Amino acid sequence: MYANLKDKIRVGTYSRDFIKDLIFLNSVDSTNSYGLSLKAKEEGTVILTKEQLDGRGRNKRPWHSVKDKSIITSIMINYPEKSDSISFVPLLSANAIIETLDSFGLSSKIKWPNDILVNSKKISGILCESSFVKGRSNFIVVGIGININLDNDDFVQENVDYIIKPTSLKMETGNHFNLEDVLFDLLNNFSKWILEYKKSNYHAILEFWKNNWSDIGKEITVVNQNKLVTGIAHDISLRGELILQTDNGLELINSGEIKT
Ligand code: BTN
Repeated sequence: MYANLKDKIRVGTYSRDFIKDLIFLNSVDSTNSYGLSLKAKEEGTVILTKEQLDGRGRNKRPWHSVKDKSIITSIMINYPEKSDSISFVPLLSANAIIETLDSFGLSSKIKWPNDILVNSKKISGILCESSFVKGRSNFIVVGIGININLDNDDFVQENVDYIIKPTSLKMETGNHFNLEDVLFDLLNNFSKWILEYKKSNYHAILEFWKNNWSDIGKEITVVNQNKLVTGIAHDISLRGELILQTDNGLELINSGEIKT
């Protein structure tokens, strides 16, 4: 598995300028936990595993993946000096996933805050977490899970309560995919967007994100701190907040989920 990935990364148009090291694991509780626990952290380190035993999603939910059928990765990046630009990290990660799926023939959309959906079903998720040294954040671990060759049975056998129905690249296209090819494309696209980010090209990140945002202009209900807020999805702020047009005017929603 991933036998030629290092060589591909070394020559990839963007990956060669960003990715410094690949850590391959056969099995791990969570690639994000592994990244957070690394003592010496270097930007551009990528953690990969065949199998994740205790994968974590947002809001303390489990993330289900299947050995050799899922992309499970965590990418280490420096915590930005301008901390208000941090909200662009999940946005640029979503952009990289959208581009990757597109290059394998699948059109996907973003559901705020950062679910990747195909035909209203979830194919991929992003979990960004920070590590702290002496009370200060110094690293961000960007965890990405993509369902590649999973079949319907891989999901129904699991005793997991899915909020959004899951799907995979194989289930949507009927084709089997080489995990290494998809992973290389993902890491190369991620490198492209992170290099834009380092050049402070936030406009390009936001434009691409908004062009692939499924909720824009639609009436949605958001669960925010146990409260329901309904409105038209109007825009996304420079801090990644959702701007909802409600009966009370524009409301900024900084975290939460869209009620399905
Ligand atoms: C979500 O949609 O709730 C986020 C899912 C993120 C899953 C990935 S898989 C690799 C990394 N390791 C984890 O434990 N979680 C992330």
